[in-house]
Amino acid sequence: MDLLNELLQTATDPRLRHVAIVHIPIGLATIAPIAAIGLVTFERHRATLRWVLLITYSAVAVTSLLAARAGEQTIPRFGTLTGDARQALVDHASLGEWVWVLAGIAAVASAGAFLRHGAAARAARWAVLGLSLACAGLVGLTGHLGGTFVHVHLPKAADTEHQRLRVEVQSAKTVSDQRERHFFERVEPVLAKSCVWCHTSTDGDPAGGLDLTSREGLLKGGQGGPVVVHGKPEESVLYLSVARTHPVLKMPKRGAKLPDEQIEAIAQWIRDGCVWTADPNR
Ligand code: HEC
Repeated sequence: MDLLNELLQTATDPRLRHVAIVHIPIGLATIAPIAAIGLVTFERHRATLRWVLLITYSAVAVTSLLAARAGEQTIPRFGTLTGDARQALVDHASLGEWVWVLAGIAAVASAGAFLRHGAAARAARWAVLGLSLACAGLVGLTGHLGGTFVHVHLPKAADTEHQRLRVEVQSAKTVSDQRERHFFERVEPVLAKSCVWCHTSTDGDPAGGLDLTSREGLLKGGQGGPVVVHGKPEESVLYLSVARTHPVLKMPKRGAKLPDEQIEAIAQWIRDGCVWTADPNR
């Protein structure tokens, strides 16, 4: 039972299947012309060679049909390919479609070599030779394109994709670095100097219920609810209060209006999602 299971598993292993439906047919189609040459040359082994060719081409036709169908299903798995890689894959696939057709015709011609009618059998033998050479050539070309795709284009495409992702990650990091820097260089000092002495919970009772010493405090908001809407300063009470466009709140309370560049720094910080990081150099 174990042995049977093992055999079944081996038979369904994708790598083995690849060998069975791709490499073996390539080998067969490559050496079959020798048998076809034998068929038109030697009278003696004609009976054997006819069988050899009929079986070989039937096998090649079936396996290459399976390979073409299996290939169709794998194409989407390569993701988005561009340029040369895509072209190589498309060429490989469309040539592959002809392999099983040609092998099938070669199998039929091999069967024709069994005909009793002398002239017909002779024509069939020559047809087998021509078809077997054409088939070997086509298989060689298809295999070459497939190999080039897998061993040259695919790694290159993967490289390009890798490179693109690296740049993306890098630039995302740069952006978040810039936002963090913006906070601890241009926003935190303003909060620390002009707001925190009233808006801190160290004495248990921040002004307006709003604690501006941490992001948690900021997001919790004050007695009137949330004070920031991420990405939208003009809808954020905190911004409106410092810009003095809020109908009631004018912050810092009882103090002078903040300089414009500080107000703009706060607006930008809210636009970027209120990033809150401690200055790593402090
Ligand atoms: C002198 C103390 C004081 C300073 C300084 C101060 N605030 Fe206030 N803040 C208050 C008080 C008190 C309230 C409660 C509402 C009121 O009385 O106007 C308040 C309310 C607020 C609210 C509304 C909270 C809510 O939900 O009701 C926001 C937003 C706010 N302050 C932001 C700031 C910012 C930003 C700064 C710094 C630029 C700042 N405040 C500086 C005292 C202060």
